[in-house]
Amino acid sequence: GIIILDFGSQYNQLIGRRIREMEVYSEIIPFNTPLEDILAKQPKGIILSGGPSSVNAEDANLVEKALFEQGIPVFGICYGMQLTAHLLGGKVDKGQKGEYGKANLEIVKENALLNGVSQNSVVWMSHFDEVSALPEGFELNAKSGVIAGISNPEKNIYGVQFHPEVSHSEEGGKMLENFVFNICKAEKNWKLTSYIDTTVAAIKEKVGDQKVILGLSGGVDSSVAAVLIQKAIGDQLTCIFVDTGLLRKDEAKKVMENYGEHFNMNIKLVDAADRFLSKLAGVDDPEQKRKIIGNEFIAVFDEESHKIEGAKFLAQGTIYPDVIESQSVKGPSAVIKSHHNVGGLPEDMDFELLEPLRELFKDEVRKVGEELGIPHHLVYRHPFPGPGLGIRVLGAVDADKVRILQEADDIFIEELYKNDLYEKVSQAFVVLLPVKSVGVMGDERTYEYTAVVRSANTIDFMTATWSRLPYEFLDTVSSRIINEVRGINRVAYDISSKPPATIEWE
Ligand code: XMP
Repeated sequence: GIIILDFGSQYNQLIGRRIREMEVYSEIIPFNTPLEDILAKQPKGIILSGGPSSVNAEDANLVEKALFEQGIPVFGICYGMQLTAHLLGGKVDKGQKGEYGKANLEIVKENALLNGVSQNSVVWMSHFDEVSALPEGFELNAKSGVIAGISNPEKNIYGVQFHPEVSHSEEGGKMLENFVFNICKAEKNWKLTSYIDTTVAAIKEKVGDQKVILGLSGGVDSSVAAVLIQKAIGDQLTCIFVDTGLLRKDEAKKVMENYGEHFNMNIKLVDAADRFLSKLAGVDDPEQKRKIIGNEFIAVFDEESHKIEGAKFLAQGTIYPDVIESQSVKGPSAVIKSHHNVGGLPEDMDFELLEPLRELFKDEVRKVGEELGIPHHLVYRHPFPGPGLGIRVLGAVDADKVRILQEADDIFIEELYKNDLYEKVSQAFVVLLPVKSVGVMGDERTYEYTAVVRSANTIDFMTATWSRLPYEFLDTVSSRIINEVRGINRVAYDISSKPPATIEWE
């Protein structure tokens, strides 16, 4: 396949996905992976990714120069191009002001990479440094004010200053295809249907006649993992579903219907709402609440898993972005909130791990899910935080507030589906504020809680904008919530982007 060396750009996962969409296997590994380990993977091509640092910095992220002498095509993107120029004897300077946004690509000399790309094609720039002198043996292929495309066709080394992997680069896909198929001559060998078959066989082989347990959350990853494992080993799989009392309205019931009945899955439903709510009573600090919920989840799961005799494997819905994140050179991103999922279990549990989705990107997990017969709306659900409504009821949590929030949230989500908006936004929910305000209903004065409707659009959940939902739609949601949910008399819409706000309120 194609190896992507990760220098830390936020777009790296996109490069990997774009290539897999071409049915070619791609793998993202840290830039400082030893050359022999890279070569052991027998890559058809190597992509040097973008990244935030400067090649001229003292502690710059580099690769061994010998990488360029293996007869394997190399494609440097953004920082990757600067690195190529730097290592092979060219020059990289601090740009005047940096460049961020759309630019037009002027092709001055076509090469295999730019084959079929039109003149003045729109590309997406995001950089400070720029290449100012080419290494020997290199030619200039494209400009956009700065040097935007270079190559050494004889050695099959290519570089571009912009980001072909993002959708703003209109013909970026064409360039990646040129690299993968025409330059690297990679074969189409990555098909999700065959992934299912080989994974099912591998699970059977690994598990034998042993028992497997899995913490089912109702979210996409654990559900797809469960259905895939069940396909392999049937009743040897037991799922544990913990109802924390902090889930969306009727979640437990729906999970039992969707997976218990429809897929005839073995699910142990644990109603632990009272336990969670009593531990949370009076606690209003968000991080404290996260800790309590996380610890309680582990305690409940631990108890329940020990009731299942002879279980040898613990299955988890770990997906490829989780793996990339944990091996990332930057380390897990700075802890702004303790994001460890409530599904995250301690490592000292006495099980062998089974992670059948470890190699898949989210969109691939969804495709596998649909291929396995899970209904579309379930595999395209928005993410839901581990601590659930525990961090969406702001301040101290109690059963009444949770019920109020569940009702309001359910109305918002129902309206999003009804108006064909659900899949146009990335994450949508309602937050309940511990603030009461005055209203009037009929002839009565009311004094009730305020709900905030939140909807975010994002690619990676690191940055996000608020969804531009139509006024009429928001009006419907607001009137329905105020009229139908006892306890709320005012609805606000959150118009903050991330950063500086976060998607959740706690
Ligand atoms: P923020 O609020 O940091 O959220 O912009 C980014 C994404 O992370 C989710 N999130 C969590 N998920 N446990 C989780 O499993 C948590 O404690 C947690 N906090 C936030 C949030 O829903 C969004 O998708």
